[in-house]
Amino acid sequence: MAGDKFISFLDELGENMEITVPYVPSPPEVVEKMLELACVTPRDVVYDLGCGDGRMLITAVKKFGARKAVGYEIRKDLYEELVKTIEREGLSKRIIVYNEDLLKANLSEATVLTLFLTTTANEKIKPKLEAELKPGTRIVSHEFTFKGWVPQKVAELSWHKIYLYIIPDCNAHFRK
Ligand SMILES: C[S@@+](CC[C@H](N)C(=O)[O-])C[C@H]1O[C@@H](n2cnc3c(N)ncnc32)[C@H](O)[C@@H]1O
Repeated sequence: MAGDKFISFLDELGENMEITVPYVPSPPEVVEKMLELACVTPRDVVYDLGCGDGRMLITAVKKFGARKAVGYEIRKDLYEELVKTIEREGLSKRIIVYNEDLLKANLSEATVLTLFLTTTANEKIKPKLEAELKPGTRIVSHEFTFKGWVPQKVAELSWHKIYLYIIPDCNAHFRK
């Protein structure tokens, strides 16, 4: 399926479900580009909301040296498989995953947040992100934008688009 058609297919599915999005893994080169765009370093705690097979979390920790990675995955089968992978890779101390709805995620530790959902799902989670993420937190979304937010950067990889947003410091003005 061509890129544009595929994206509207995902978006239509998103319209008809709660926040549920089908499992479509990001290609490895997109995963790396997303973490690169967010400038992930060993100081970061990377969250992937809807983490699928955990490739974002594992790459963040193994390749980018992230201090910690946290994932939320609604599908039990994917979650259980991921728990096994994390154990097998000896990453249990640095990667934590929850078999829970991403709308219930505790985002308090996040410095980087990655998403590959849909436009509809992004709209549903936007108020939570605005309320709970610390200023300076980088959000990287594969393929889907946030209405009303202006991306700091946009990267393209064949037909994939990746958007980088940064949570603003709304009180910076008052500290001057
Ligand atoms: C398009 S896949 C992306 C997987 C992974 N983030 C990646 O980029 O490879 C979306 C994932 O979100 C999960 N998901 C959908 N709705 C969810 C929800 N409400 N809470 C947690 N996970 C959800 C799906 O099961 C699926 O694994």
